[in-house]
Amino acid sequence: MSKAAVIFWSQTGNTEQMANAIADGIREGGMEVDVLNVADTTPADAVKYAKIALGCPAMGAEVLEETEFDPFFTELESKISGLKVALFGSYGWGDGQWMRDWVQRTNDANAVIYTDEGLIINETPDDDGIAKCKEFGKGFAAF
Ligand SMILES: Cc1cc2nc3c(=O)[nH]c(=O)nc-3n(C[C@H](O)[C@H](O)[C@H](O)COP(=O)(O)O)c2cc1C
Repeated sequence: MSKAAVIFWSQTGNTEQMANAIADGIREGGMEVDVLNVADTTPADAVKYAKIALGCPAMGAEVLEETEFDPFFTELESKISGLKVALFGSYGWGDGQWMRDWVQRTNDANAVIYTDEGLIINETPDDDGIAKCKEFGKGFAAF
């Protein structure tokens, strides 16, 4: 499949807004994209895409959301060697530790990480944040 997927988990919609803006950027970059809530896909289906952008906010104490998203990603870890992956998410009061840990896990899984770091935005993305997401998506389409 030469399509990209943007797969996200979001409780209050901030990471979902990022997901939609990243998908807009991917389309601007000339690639088809499916935007999927993590509840509506599986790791086996996710790895059929040419590249995947994964979104999850900082939850718990600087971790991925533990009920749906972390189990999804844990299963995905054994399947993403060589796959192009972008990571993104919204956060609140922390300093991005959840994303640094997530990048580490993704590198350890031998995925090919876009920009070597994730895109993080504090709480609800403003206009500048949405623009950053679009750029991130556009770049990911070309990656
Ligand atoms: C239960 C819970 C735990 C959270 N834990 C963290 C955290 O450890 N670090 C942090 O920076 N923000 C934390 N936050 C803030 C969220 O990451 C932030 O509000 C984010 O924008 C939520 O994204 P969403 O709208 O996509 O659900 C937490 C929020 C909730 C509700």
